[in-house]
Amino acid sequence: MTLQLDERQRAMLAEMGIKLWLPKAAPATPETVAASADQAGAGARFDSEPVQPAAAAPSIARAAAAPSSPRPRPVAPSEGATPAPESRSAMALGPRPEGVADMDWLQLEATVAACRACGLCAGRTQTVFGVGARSADWMVIGEAPGENEDRQGQPFVGQAGKLLDAMLAAIGLSRQVESASESIAARADQAGAEGQKGLKRGVYIANVLKCRPPGNRNPQPDEIAQCEPYLRRQVALVQPKIILAMGRFAVQSLLQTTEPIGRLRGRVHTYEGVPVIVTYHPAYLLRALPDKAKAWQDLCLALEVMGGQDGR
Ligand code: URA
Repeated sequence: MTLQLDERQRAMLAEMGIKLWLPKAAPATPETVAASADQAGAGARFDSEPVQPAAAAPSIARAAAAPSSPRPRPVAPSEGATPAPESRSAMALGPRPEGVADMDWLQLEATVAACRACGLCAGRTQTVFGVGARSADWMVIGEAPGENEDRQGQPFVGQAGKLLDAMLAAIGLSRQVESASESIAARADQAGAEGQKGLKRGVYIANVLKCRPPGNRNPQPDEIAQCEPYLRRQVALVQPKIILAMGRFAVQSLLQTTEPIGRLRGRVHTYEGVPVIVTYHPAYLLRALPDKAKAWQDLCLALEVMGGQDGR
């Protein structure tokens, strides 16, 4: 697949720090990408690890290893309103709510806001549920809220979020719900996959964890396990045609693997029947400039997969 980029998209790629050598080279075949990916490092948890772009980061024990929780009684959404900061340390944990797999958006969002199923509830300002078009074809899955996200209640609002938005814009996607209305999406279809004329298709963005780990530490397996049903339900409700998994915690927990990102990129995986493209976390890319080109290859692969699905 050859991408025709207009000036605006070229500017966005420049903003991402990507030089335009890519479309001329054979784009992102699984073989070529996997070969270079093996030398590349896995994504690092944002702000928390020194970056060594050429070295593989250690893999983590996954949620798969975590014991499954007993089926506890349901938690009414009203039970768990966000506490005042001074009362946080006294906050008691509760069971993981039942019935998540059958919830609608309203119930799910309220249940997440009230969740006390792991210790992260004690330190959060608020839960970070997700943002964007709830019927989008594209879904981005990140790791966990950071400080800014915890404060604002939206995923990817810091510097990493800016880079993510630039990456998405470069392939004609926007988290702005109004850009993703039916008529705009139809016009974007006419304009082509690259969203020429500034029209963008919607994307839904969520994280594996809905609460901020203190000090931006790595998510723990038990936290991922407790939160996992929420993300699973979000995916079921959105019914995306493709998932971009960003960063090793997102990737490894979706794919239930301990393989590093460098070895998972360049192929199409699946989660709940949805194609998954693995790529680096934007926060990692902010510090590992050479890997931005690889992230662009990943986006090209995702476009290719989408092109195969709906002709775009
Ligand atoms: N990193 C993530 O993975 N998610 C966010 O929401 C913010 C930073």
